[in-house]
Amino acid sequence: MLMENMIVDRAHLVAAHTAVKVHVAIICDGNGRWATSRGLPRSEGHRAGAEAARRIIRCAPHLGVHTLTLFALSSANWQRPPAEVDAILGILEEYLLAETSHCLEGGVRLSIIGRRDRLPAALRAAIGDAESLTAKGMALHLRLAIDYSARQTIYQAASKFYKVTNLSSEAFGNLLAEVQRGGSTEVDLLIRTGGEQRLSDFLLWECAFAEFVFLPKRWPDFMPVDLRNAVLEFERRERTRGGLPRECTV
Ligand code: IPE
Ligand code: MG
Repeated sequence: MLMENMIVDRAHLVAAHTAVKVHVAIICDGNGRWATSRGLPRSEGHRAGAEAARRIIRCAPHLGVHTLTLFALSSANWQRPPAEVDAILGILEEYLLAETSHCLEGGVRLSIIGRRDRLPAALRAAIGDAESLTAKGMALHLRLAIDYSARQTIYQAASKFYKVTNLSSEAFGNLLAEVQRGGSTEVDLLIRTGGEQRLSDFLLWECAFAEFVFLPKRWPDFMPVDLRNAVLEFERRERTRGGLPRECTV
């Protein structure tokens, strides 16, 4: 079944290869429910979620994605039981240690956005190594949001400038990119899996004009074909940014 899926996906990928270059951000939700519906501990859902991330990262450059931001751990997730948070942090560390060489091979530049000071030292070290080793990757900019809160990031950037009265929006955007280290680029397409339809403090500034696609499917079940379909859906939408649609005459 898995092989079948992969073959179908590959055929679709070729068909869907387009000239668009987009920043896709994904709220990877539903890991816990995926696991509990199978009688597994929630941590197994997070492990399966890491596998889904691997698949999607590999196919993203072939679907016209230049930047992929994945919401791996929200600052709000510290409210969960410590055992679950520890499991997620452990999986992230394993993931970075195992994936850095694949990123290098695939030309993937990996950055982490979010706070680092509350992360375990071993994870911080893995982040530092992964970022410096992959810094020259040109095929895809992969940004993992870990201990990330958009409000906190915006607040931090704003508090650096709170006495300046002539700050341009562009200068503020640049400052935001600096504060969150992994840069800040406008999101074109925001996907949320797992059935909820909310932004949950993810990329509030960058999603100002993003197109949203919400999917009931849980993140571990997310396949390359789902990304392809979302990108095709994005291409069908007309983005007016407050202007008028093309065919509209006054
Ligand atoms: C998303 O899956 C992953 C993280 C928040 C780390 P959840 O853990 O939120 O899964 P559900 O929503 O409980 O199914
Ligand atoms: Mg959830």
